[in-house]
Amino acid sequence: MKFLIPHIAAIALVAGTPLMNAAEPSITSKSFGTTTNGTKVTLFTLTNSKGASVTISNYGGIVTSLKMPDREGKFSDIVLGFRTLPEYETKSPYFGCLVGRYGNRIASGKFTLDGKTYQLARNNNGQSLHGGLKGFDKVVWEAAPLMTKQGPSLKLTYISKDGEEGYPGTLTVTATYTLTNKNELKLVCRATTDKKTIVNLTHHSYFNLAGQGRGDILNHIVTLKSDRFTPVDKKLITTGKIASIKGTPFDFRQPTTIGARINEKAEQLKIAKGYDHNWVAAKLSGQLGVVATVEDPKSGRVMEVLTTAPGFQFYTGNFLDGTLTGKGGKIYNFRNGFCIEPQHYPDSPNHKNFPTVVLKPGQTYKNTIIYRFSAK
Ligand code: GLA
Repeated sequence: MKFLIPHIAAIALVAGTPLMNAAEPSITSKSFGTTTNGTKVTLFTLTNSKGASVTISNYGGIVTSLKMPDREGKFSDIVLGFRTLPEYETKSPYFGCLVGRYGNRIASGKFTLDGKTYQLARNNNGQSLHGGLKGFDKVVWEAAPLMTKQGPSLKLTYISKDGEEGYPGTLTVTATYTLTNKNELKLVCRATTDKKTIVNLTHHSYFNLAGQGRGDILNHIVTLKSDRFTPVDKKLITTGKIASIKGTPFDFRQPTTIGARINEKAEQLKIAKGYDHNWVAAKLSGQLGVVATVEDPKSGRVMEVLTTAPGFQFYTGNFLDGTLTGKGGKIYNFRNGFCIEPQHYPDSPNHKNFPTVVLKPGQTYKNTIIYRFSAK
């Protein structure tokens, strides 16, 4: 497939493999088959000037592959995922997807706006999780590839109908991925509405900086710029408290391996079978800043996470149990990947002390997320 590429006219874009050498940024596309409803799905591969690449499906806005160099310059795919579309449709634990309308959990799937109570699908243990039965991870987005000065880019658009999955208002959403020439995977999510509603969009890649399918992530070294988190109850629903991390296994202000304290007997770790919590981002609200750094000492790969969101979920793949076989026949066992999902706090609609997730007509919701890669 050919695309109109403003600015850089010399680049040839052809379905399948890029024609140009790795130093020339490119965008290619190929079919990813059709959904069970018969909608055609496309896989786009963006390659930047450093030879790094990301493959994105317009089904769910899913990052199906992300290839970044290690300290020797060797590229590996560092996100978990499947080879085929039907696997994403039927059994994905949100691998690599865009999450909406509301990322994370809402207690009993219920919230009230202007005195009216809305009931969402209780798709996770009696709670609403990640937008319901057919969230933004399971819809086909309109896709527009574009070469930008920063690097190759893919703009995804989805119009969610008023009442879809129980949420009020027609929500017009764009999610623009750019693979910058500085080895950043940048995602800018925007949304507008025609009725007062709630929104909380995020991204759900499971990373393994050693390479997907190469065991657990317990040796990864994590630094989180945060001194508070939101504890959960036995149903993994936030209690409404914003607690200090001081003196707990949730204190990652100094670089610490994921595994160092994950099996400690702390109540919060027991409930979630590891880390699966929202940290409060320590930065000026709305400003883009680094909230997390993760390093794999073996490969030398480093990932920094930047966001404008007020918090981020740090999840250590505690629900992976070896029953899923992914790309290259790799079996995904317990804690074989981790997610950092910049977002608003879970269950915000039911907690007045949390930053608001209400979006009104005339306003634009925005969440910028950057996963920045390097090696040392
Ligand atoms: C999020 C949640 C986890 C889990 C995963 C998907 O990260 O916080 O509890 O539901 O999604 O498996």
